[in-house]
Amino acid sequence: MKTEISEIADRIYRLSTFVPQIGPTGFTFNQFLIDADQPLLFHYGQRSLFPLISDAVKRVVPLDRLRWTTCSHVEADESGALNQWLAAAPNATPAHGQIGCNIWLTDMADRAPRVLKNDEVLDLGGKKVRWLDTPHVPHNWDAGLIYEETTGTLFSSDLFTQFGACPATTSDDIVDAAIATEKAVPFMPKTPLAAPTLRRLAALKPRTIALMHGPSFKGDGGAALGALATYYETRPH
Ligand SMILES: [Fe+2]
Ligand SMILES: [Fe+2]
Repeated sequence: MKTEISEIADRIYRLSTFVPQIGPTGFTFNQFLIDADQPLLFHYGQRSLFPLISDAVKRVVPLDRLRWTTCSHVEADESGALNQWLAAAPNATPAHGQIGCNIWLTDMADRAPRVLKNDEVLDLGGKKVRWLDTPHVPHNWDAGLIYEETTGTLFSSDLFTQFGACPATTSDDIVDAAIATEKAVPFMPKTPLAAPTLRRLAALKPRTIALMHGPSFKGDGGAALGALATYYETRPH
């Protein structure tokens, strides 16, 4: 296995590891590095992938420059290597929404986390990251997403998950593959929050949607998120 680095928007790097053994056609795990005066890493990755991912990050920035780490929700691929990162990046502060800090991060992190309020913007110096509380979207009570405002990049975690190898970026449709994956392995609960949260994300009109498990989509992100919202609104359960 190897981790490939692609710049998917200005100074935003996708660190992608394809694992051929998972699922019918393999599965991609992506971390994202936002390079700025205060670099931020989104997704810690599994503990087993830490050597590969940290080597990839080092090719872009020295680990002691990392200032922030965060992820969408607690789960091995999103948060497994939390404390390996905190050990390797001594100047990094783990950040999360209030619920995540309450239910896991404060206890599980080797350093005290920074609570991010819903809609709070972290000014990284050259990049601005907005934290969005998105409970149960894509799943887990603590779920949140980030939106980088200067490039219009939404980091969507498991939203739009697809199986198989993929290019780093695409402008092709990502909705059909997302719905097919959801039908095969229903990973997102249809709560009363699902469609309204997707509509809120659509209103951001992202120009890039950075998928954790798939390519980074370049195009009308509002339309793609709106289509996904419609799917959850019309799905019977
Ligand atoms: Fe997940
Ligand atoms: Fe994931």
